[in-house]
Amino acid sequence: MKRNIAIFASGEGSNAEAIALYFANDENIDVAVSLSNRKNAFVHQRMSALDIPSFTISNEQWNLATPVIEILKRYDIDFIVLAGFLCIIPGQIIDAYKNRIINIHPSLLPKFGGAGMWGHHVHEAVIASKETLSGITIHYVTNEIDGGEIIFQESCPVMPDDTPESLAARIHELEHKHYPAIIKRLLS
Ligand code: GRF
Repeated sequence: MKRNIAIFASGEGSNAEAIALYFANDENIDVAVSLSNRKNAFVHQRMSALDIPSFTISNEQWNLATPVIEILKRYDIDFIVLAGFLCIIPGQIIDAYKNRIINIHPSLLPKFGGAGMWGHHVHEAVIASKETLSGITIHYVTNEIDGGEIIFQESCPVMPDDTPESLAARIHELEHKHYPAIIKRLLS
């Protein structure tokens, strides 16, 4: 049976692209649609280049949840993947997709997670704390920010001369390598 994924992304969309490319020729899993809260997010261009429909949803629509659920139904979505998505997911969507929404976080949760800990803020905090290890966490999404059950973690070193940018680049490599494969594992 075909499984349809929706990707939610707010920014660059490099993870969204890696996932879409990974499943491009998959017989059973399809990246059916991408949703963003930002009209100018680069993810739209990446998705359009791969012929994946990509929509912008206003903050009001996110908060209402029903317009989002309608799109998810229209595309027969089984599974939601957050990839750099910066809005809180309304409880109604979490309930409708219980244990079928996952997120990737660019640190070893529970360290450096929670409100305000996203993107460069995470890497800045890791470097400021003089951590020698950072990494990625893939976890289920619940009502608690970055608090759902952990599915997978992988670490990488933090170098003494790392900047937030160099650390982010190392972490992105890990994300692109593991996120698609973990999605495949969960859906197989
Ligand atoms: C990733 O580092 C991810 O862990 C975090 O946001 C970043 C998104 O990057 N949640 P991109 O938009 O996929 O390039």
